[in-house]
Amino acid sequence: MPEERLQKILAKAGLASRRNAEELIRQGKVTVDGKVITEMGCRVDPARQVVAFEGRPLSLGEEKIYLLLNKPRGYVTTLHDPQGRPIVSSLLTGITSRVFPVGRLDFDTEGALILTNDGDFAERILHPRFEIERTYQAEVRGLPTPEKIRLLEEGLELEGKKTWPARVKIIARQPGSTILEITIHEGRKRQVRLMFKAIEHRVLTLKRIAYGGLRLGALPTGHYRRLTPADLELIVS
Ligand code: URA
Repeated sequence: MPEERLQKILAKAGLASRRNAEELIRQGKVTVDGKVITEMGCRVDPARQVVAFEGRPLSLGEEKIYLLLNKPRGYVTTLHDPQGRPIVSSLLTGITSRVFPVGRLDFDTEGALILTNDGDFAERILHPRFEIERTYQAEVRGLPTPEKIRLLEEGLELEGKKTWPARVKIIARQPGSTILEITIHEGRKRQVRLMFKAIEHRVLTLKRIAYGGLRLGALPTGHYRRLTPADLELIVS
């Protein structure tokens, strides 16, 4: 097997996306043949050398798995939480591979979360070049006027940078609140909540209902299912 850059090997082994892998290397958590490597660009022959993360040798030929979880509210999407809050991986009973979430959902957001051990795949679908759409169902306080909805659709300034155009659909008007669907193709932190805050409507509940063309469907909250090759194609289509 030819030599490859260490961060690429970590991503292929499903440890993290390539960008996060660099951070793990920088933190001194990765060894090659027992030696801590902290500089980028180190080339490794995975057939001859032993790469380990936190002392645990990586299985470089591990089967790739792809999961869709209906994340409940009240879970963090990081792999551990300093505050001891529940983590999404605790919901993956029966999965022994170490998978990580593709992107993030807030603690108080529910819905579609993809998890995988395929770092290259995660990198690809998170890359802004692919402009993968994420659709959310939001319940907001009050009834946004057509002018305010137009602001969301055209893009508005958030933390000094304009959001890309969004698609917005009103699903239901209720006493005191409105349910809308909003489709964006960026993954900025708390983006949907901040977009509604910018038009002065507080988000009461938020649920991601589709990732690209892949819909959450009837998957019950807290449950997951394995994605098929056809599902994976839907994400990028
Ligand atoms: N936008 C948000 O505000 N929160 C999420 O979790 C995802 C998108």
